[in-house]
Amino acid sequence: MSDLQPTAYSLQPAVNPALARLRQYPFERLRNLLAGAKPPGALTPITLSIGEPRHTPPKFILDALTENLAGLGSYPATAGLPQLRIAAANWLARRFRLPDGAVDPDTMVLPANGTREALFAFVQAMTDAARQPLVVMPNPFYQIYEGAALLAGAEPWFMGADRGNEYLPDLDSVPEAVWKRCQVLFLCSPGNPTGAVASIDYLRRALELADRHDFVVASDECYSEIYLDEAKPPPGLLQAALAAGHDEFERCVVFHSLSKRSSVPGLRSGFVAGDARLIKLFLLYRTYHGCAMPIPTQLASVPAWNDDAHVVENRRLYRQKFAAALPILREAMQVDAPDASFYLWPEVADDERFTRELFERKHVTVLPGSYIARESACGNPGRGRVRISLVASVPECIEAAERIRDYALAR
Ligand SMILES: Cc1ncc(COP(=O)(O)O)c(C=O)c1O
Repeated sequence: MSDLQPTAYSLQPAVNPALARLRQYPFERLRNLLAGAKPPGALTPITLSIGEPRHTPPKFILDALTENLAGLGSYPATAGLPQLRIAAANWLARRFRLPDGAVDPDTMVLPANGTREALFAFVQAMTDAARQPLVVMPNPFYQIYEGAALLAGAEPWFMGADRGNEYLPDLDSVPEAVWKRCQVLFLCSPGNPTGAVASIDYLRRALELADRHDFVVASDECYSEIYLDEAKPPPGLLQAALAAGHDEFERCVVFHSLSKRSSVPGLRSGFVAGDARLIKLFLLYRTYHGCAMPIPTQLASVPAWNDDAHVVENRRLYRQKFAAALPILREAMQVDAPDASFYLWPEVADDERFTRELFERKHVTVLPGSYIARESACGNPGRGRVRISLVASVPECIEAAERIRDYALAR
């Protein structure tokens, strides 16, 4: 089934016709691809297809959650507790070296139940369907950007990212006519699946274009804490905004998450921050959308944002996995070390065949690159690549790398 075909849901009686435009989700396609395959039972399965952190969640976060369960007795406010917004603003200032007071926790921060829902909801709140909007996004990309655009009545416009542009979409290659219709530009740095990091200059260029063409920049920075060189934390859009003289973060909204930072994807905790005017509108939208964060989740998130030591340890584990897996894989394939994230994005001949055969012969699951990218001017930049998420334990990742190498060499 091609990714362009809608999923097999009945649209009768009449429902929102935009639902018919949603593409089949990559993991559904993966399930279909692997259906009927018979992996060797003697090998334990190793799943590296999903970007779900599997390090042990820090105990102090779990303790804070259970200690505050009584909070389930109250409805939470959409704007969240002041102490959560303060913890988020303080973390932003610490992490991105923003001046004291640059992020006002009262007007510039909102909690989100993970960035996924916030990325989706943001597009619904920010686009004017009557103006033939475009939502410009990287390609390959996190699938929510596209679904959000389609359901908002906008068209997605894809900017290809491949080795030729160091995996960062070339903003200057986007036609003027596209920028004119753009209402939201999605950036993802560090990138999923490429791990590429946008520089301050790159982010400033995006802001210049936003000023010139009157659109909003939505910067998905949920991998900003997973980077390989401890001395080189990836920069963020709020930093670039201040450097560009956008003292009030005009046109900028960033998305951050505890899922990867603290290995608590099930907590569903993140936040959005930036331009107070946009945050106010987004709060209005969210009040109706009804996505307030439960109070125990908020109170578990406060110590998580306030602590950095557990994140240093988290990075150490990812670094260990990259250091071990890369040399093994390089015996059999071309694979770059990313700047950040926990993904590898190696070249293979036929990504679907590679994925299916690897599963059948070695019981390792990866994701075909073409499933998380779309055909655009430069073809499908995910074709001929697979995404390997180094989320399993260190020994499991090493074992998986050996199995992948052995499979690739034997083909
Ligand atoms: C690029 C990107 N953005 C956002 C998310 C959503 O993460 P969460 O909703 O857990 O914050 C993911 C999850 O894999 C992702 O890869």
